Parts: sequence; structure tokens; C-alpha cells
Amino acid sequence: MAHPRGQFSSKIGFLLAAAGSAVGLGNIWGFPTQAASNGGAAFLLVYLILAFVLAYPALMAELTIGRYSRSNVFTALSNMSPTPWVRTFGAAIGTVAVCTAVIILGFYAIVAGWMLAEFLAPVASLGGSETGHLWLKKNSFGRDTFMCGVMAGLTILIVARGVEKGIETWSTRLMPLLFLILTSLIVFVLMQPSAGEGLKAYLIPNLSHLREPSLYLSAMGQAFFSLSLGVGTMLIYGSYLRDTDNLPRLGASVTLLDTGFAFTAGLLIIPAIYVAQTQGVSIYSESGDLIAGPGLIFQLLPALFSSMGSAGTFLAFAFFALMTIAALTSTISMLEVPVSVCVERWGLPRAKAAWACGSVIFGLSVIIIWQFDTLFSLAITVSTEYAEPLIGVALCLFAGWVLSRKKLLEELTKGHPEIESTLFWKVWPFYVRFICPALILITFVQSLR
Ligand code: PHE
Repeated sequence: MAHPRGQFSSKIGFLLAAAGSAVGLGNIWGFPTQAASNGGAAFLLVYLILAFVLAYPALMAELTIGRYSRSNVFTALSNMSPTPWVRTFGAAIGTVAVCTAVIILGFYAIVAGWMLAEFLAPVASLGGSETGHLWLKKNSFGRDTFMCGVMAGLTILIVARGVEKGIETWSTRLMPLLFLILTSLIVFVLMQPSAGEGLKAYLIPNLSHLREPSLYLSAMGQAFFSLSLGVGTMLIYGSYLRDTDNLPRLGASVTLLDTGFAFTAGLLIIPAIYVAQTQGVSIYSESGDLIAGPGLIFQLLPALFSSMGSAGTFLAFAFFALMTIAALTSTISMLEVPVSVCVERWGLPRAKAAWACGSVIFGLSVIIIWQFDTLFSLAITVSTEYAEPLIGVALCLFAGWVLSRKKLLEELTKGHPEIESTLFWKVWPFYVRFICPALILITFVQSLR
């Protein structure tokens, strides 16, 4: 049975949905902490270059395959293959991509749940419930499972409503709010003493870091994760685009929005670390390194907020609202990957598919919470460090080799013949065939050594 496919109703709808997917914990948490521990502006510089040189072409490969095939990642890769063995390879890559989306959502929803708990904690305090506040602030199996379940439930409800009414509508509502909260927080933090020092650390590069190979690997991984590449998310979003939309331009806008958000988040987090130091909050971990990762978000920043009295309560509330919203617009894009396969391959109604996939993934999250010490970092490493770049390579190869040059260019210039005279048109088909996969592979192999 053919299902009427969803479609984004406008360019801005697509942009906000794709930017909503891309902008997430990776930007507001991952990027600033990586920048803080890798030489500030040196990391920023490398990140920006790799985002445009590697991640943007890979994003274009996904969007193009998506719109050309008008289907989910699994169907797209198996159907566009001309020979049986390429078909099997396509089906295998499609399956791995769906599994990767499932694993990423599995751990991401747990972190999103922590954000929600931190967001609700000041609300519980204001409502006079100290027990509620304490329960929300303390890691426990019960709290983590419950909060993750709430995030999974919200994600399912939005995805079940479909592309236009669910994903597009909610991204369009939440993204401007996200921007507003982020900029207000930056203005507040930059007015604090010592914020200037943080700005300097962030914006004046320490070039000696450029000699460290690990900087390039971290920057590539970060760029791929941040642009939601290598799991079929951007492919399925591309498949909901209209034929009249200008693909290279939309892809460039999404990349700019994503890197712009990451850069802006750095203006908040890095100065906040320095402000915290002047407030007497310890900014170094036990091993003597600058606090990064969970310590930064769940210890340093809350300690900073609570040193600021009642303004701090409000700030904590706003900051974790920001994190929760950023996470939600990303989780919906992850769930869309398996849901679109269930709807298009097996003809399941969308709402049922959303509940079924969402429940299975929630089950996976519960297992990760239960065996946290072993499974959490394993899930992150396998999905983001291995699967995402390798699937990224495969998608470039599919766009470059399996889709013939003629079809590729036709798809790109649909409705916009003027693209033919651009540099992008001249360079990209060659680039996506050879250069981009080779560069990703080289960076990847380096990381294994
Ligand atoms: N890009 C999202 C972030 O930066 C994470 C993500 C990865 C979303 C893969 C969808 C698919 O947080």
C-alpha cells in the first residue's frame, strides 16, 4: 500500500526542522567543552574549516539521496543500487544506519532526561517541594528512567503527528525560543566580572594546539555528530523537501545555523567557566584538568547558578530549559529514522510506528541506565566515533558512484538551473566521489592508531 508521504510545507519549515535536529546537546555542551580543553579558538578554527570542507559535502550527499529517492535510508540505499551485490551492500548500510540512530537515541534520551530533571528542580523548589527538588537533583535509577521516559514520550507524541504537523510545527515553535534563551543567557554572563578573560581564551587561538593530531579527530567527530550525519536523519529530512527547493543553498544554511549555534554556545559556556572561578567554584577536576563533560554541566554550572542567589535560580531554570528544548528537537529527528522505515517498508500507520519504535528504544535506554558504567560510553563510542563517519563515507560513495553523474546533477539543479554556473556544481560531484570519502577515512584511520 502506498502511503502519502509527508512534506515540509515551506523552506523555513525545513530549515528550522533540520537546524532543530542539528542543534542539540552536541552544540551547547559538546562543542564548548571540546573547545575549552583543546586550545579554545584553535579548535574553533579547525572545527569551522572541517564543518564546511567535510561535513557540508557529506550533508549534501544525504540531502540529495533523500530527495532523489523520496524514501527512508533503508529503502533509498537498497533501491537505488543497480546490481544485486550493491543492493545487498545498500541494504546493509541502511540497516546499520537505522541501528545507529536507535543507539544514539538510546543514550541521548537519558541525557535529555537529566536536562529535564535539572530544569524541573528549581520549579519544585519554588513550588515548596524540597523532597521533589532533592529527588530531581540526585542520580538514581528511578529518576533517570522516569525522566528519560518523559522525554521519550514527548518525542513519540511529536513524531506520531507527522512531518508537517509534528516535526515542522514543533521545530518552528521551539527553535526561536531556543535562540532567545541562549542570547539572553549570554548577555547576562558577559556582564559578570571575569567574563572577558573567558572570551579571550575562547577567541584568541593558542596555535600550539594545532600540532596535535587528536584535535582534528575531535573536530571531525564533533562536526559529524553536530550536523546529525551518518544515521539517515538528514537523508529522510531531505526526502521531505519539495522539488523546487534549492538544495545546495538549504544545506549551506543548515551548516551555517549549526556552526553559528555552536559558536554562540561557546560565548556562554567558556566565559561562564571563568565567572565560576571568581565565585570560588572549583573549575578543575580531580585529575587537575579543566572540568569538562557532565562535571561542567551538572556541577560547575549549577554551583555557579546557586552562588548567584535568586537570579541564579532563574538562570538555572532558563539554562536547562534551553538544553531540554535543544535535545527534544534532536530526539524527534532521530526517532523519525526508524519510524519512516516502519511506515514505508512495512506499511505501519505512523502513530503505531512511533509508539512501537519509541517503546523499543526506551527499553534500550532503560538497559543502558541499568548497566550504566559499561554501556553508556560504549554506546557513545560505537555510534558516534565508528558508525557515523563510516556510514558518512558510504553515503558519499552512494551519492558519487551509485547515483550516476547525470542523475546527481539533475537532482541538484531541479528547479534551479542557475546552480549549473556555480563553483559548487563544478566541484562537488568530483569531491563527493573521491576527496570527501578519502579525507573522512584518513581522519578515521588516524584515530585508530
Ligand atoms: N546533532 C545533534 C546534536 O548536536 C545530535 C544528533 C545526532 C541528532 C544524530 C540526530 C542524529 O546534539
